[in-house]
Amino acid sequence: MLAGKHILLIIGGGIAAYKSLELIRRLQDAGARVTSVLTKAGEEFVTPLSVSALTGGRVHRDLFDLTAEAEMGHIQLSRSADLVVVAPATADLMAKMAQGLANDLASTLLLATDTPVLLAPAMNVRMWKHPATQRNLTVLRQDGIQVVGPNEGGMACGEFGPGRLAEPEEIRAAVVDFFASGPLAGKRVIVTSGPTHEPIDPVRYIANRSSGAQGTAVARALRALGAEVVFITGPATVRPPEGVDVVPVESARDMDAAVQAALPADAGVFAAAVADWHVTSASDRKLKKSKDGLPVLAFGENPDILRGVAQMKEGRPALVVGFAAETNDVLDNATAKRKRKGCDWIVANDVSPETGIMGGRENAVVLITDEGVETWPRMSKEAVAVQLADRIAAALTT
Ligand code: CTP
Repeated sequence: MLAGKHILLIIGGGIAAYKSLELIRRLQDAGARVTSVLTKAGEEFVTPLSVSALTGGRVHRDLFDLTAEAEMGHIQLSRSADLVVVAPATADLMAKMAQGLANDLASTLLLATDTPVLLAPAMNVRMWKHPATQRNLTVLRQDGIQVVGPNEGGMACGEFGPGRLAEPEEIRAAVVDFFASGPLAGKRVIVTSGPTHEPIDPVRYIANRSSGAQGTAVARALRALGAEVVFITGPATVRPPEGVDVVPVESARDMDAAVQAALPADAGVFAAAVADWHVTSASDRKLKKSKDGLPVLAFGENPDILRGVAQMKEGRPALVVGFAAETNDVLDNATAKRKRKGCDWIVANDVSPETGIMGGRENAVVLITDEGVETWPRMSKEAVAVQLADRIAAALTT
C-alpha cells in the first residue's frame, strides 16, 4: 500500500510520543520506509535507541550535526521524503511552523521542505482550545498542511476533551489516503496471483513453484497509485498486500469464478501461474496404496481465465494484461500467446530454473504491446511492479 514511499517522521515531545513507535511499525507494515527525527522534547519520552531500532537507521536529532550535514544535509533529509508526518505535533511545534521559525532540526526541516506535511497534534485540551493554537491551526491548514486528529477522550494529565493523539492506525490510514489520491483513484483493477492447487484427493494436490511475489507486488503498486484492487490469490507463500480486497482461492476453477464475480473492472492483470489441468478423477477420500497397482490420474482442461476476460464481448476491461512464463523461445512464445489469448499486453519472462526467477526476488521481463517489444533490465519484482503500474495508470488515464 505504501510500497516505495519514504516517510520522514518527526516525533515531537509529549506523553503520546510512545505511540509514534507503534506508528513506525504500522507504516513499515504497509511497505513504507521510515526515517525519523526526534526533537529534544521528544527525547524525554522515547529514547533515540528505540526509534533507531525500529526504523533500522539513525535518528536525526541535531541541527548542527556535522556528520549528517556531510552525509546528506538537513534540507535533503526532508526533501527526499514523499511525505513528512509530525506525530505527535505539539502546540509549540505548530506555533513554530505557523510563524516560520527555524531554531531546531524539526522546525528547520519543516520550513525548508516542499514535501507535503501531515500533522497529528497532541496536547492538553486547554492548549488545543486556546485561541493561539486554533489560530495557528487555521494558518497551517491555509498553508496546505493536512491534519489528522486530535481525538477526544481522557488524557494523561487527567483532563477530558480533544487533544489526544490520533491512534497509530488512524494516522496510517491518513497517510494511505494521502497517497491514494493517485492517478488510479476511482479505477477498479483485478489482479490474479500465486499458484493454483489442483486436488488429487483431500490431502494431495498438483501445484507449481509460483510464490505469488510478482502478483502481490503488482497489486501493491496499483494500490499505491490509488486503484481499488481486487486481489484474487491462490495459495501463495508471500503475504497479500494491505489495503486491497483479498479473495483467497485454491484451484483454477475457483479462481475463474472469483474473477467472474469481481467483474466489471477497468483493468485486469493476470499474474497467477494457473494450472492448465485439473484431476477429473480426484477422489473425495485419501487414495490408499493398493495391490492392484499404481493410481492413474485423469485430467481435464481448466478454464483459461485470461482468455475468457480478454475475449469478452461485453463489459471487457479497457486493459487486459497477461503474463507469460516461458522456459524457451520467450519472445516468440509470448508474442503468439498474446495473440491467442487476445489480451492487450503480455509481460513475458524466462522462468528456466537457472534464472532463479520463479520463486525468486528478481524478474527480467519483456513487455509486449501493440506498439512493439520492450526489454526491461533485470530488477526486483517490486521495481517491475512499480514500472508496470505506472504504465497501466498512463494507459487508463489518457
Ligand atoms: N492463465 C489463465 N488461466 C489459465 C492459464 C493461464 O488466466 N488457465 C493466464 C496466466 O495468469 C498468464 C497467462 O494466462 O497471465 C499465461 O499463462 P501461461 O501459464 O504462461 O500460459 P498458458 O496459457 O498456460 O500456456 P502454455 O501452458 O502453453 O505455456
